[in-house]
Amino acid sequence: MSARWVYACGLDAFDKRQIVTAIMDGRQFILIQDQARFYAAERACPHEGADLALGRCSHARLHCPRHQASFDLTDGSVSPGWSFPALRVFDVRTIGAELWVNLNHREDRGN
Ligand code: FES
Repeated sequence: MSARWVYACGLDAFDKRQIVTAIMDGRQFILIQDQARFYAAERACPHEGADLALGRCSHARLHCPRHQASFDLTDGSVSPGWSFPALRVFDVRTIGAELWVNLNHREDRGN
């Protein structure tokens, strides 16, 4: 499946927040800035659906606010000791002052 890049937000959305929400293609996402890098992921925690927009991020790990599992934002893998599916993460790119997301999930593309 080929890439499908969609505009997500302006980078100024991160001026006061580290995690920004977006609806793209009718689906809920979170967009995250961690130091100089950006990430995109599904908004609902794959464990019990907690709102990950209420989580916190440090060192490229997103911590769920409900049970404190954490996810590696580079591949979505969950912290040791948990046995539920990985968080779906999406490729991002910046174009000027805009953040774009590839809505085709990596695994869906066979990567
Ligand atoms: S709902 Fe996120 S770790 Fe349980």
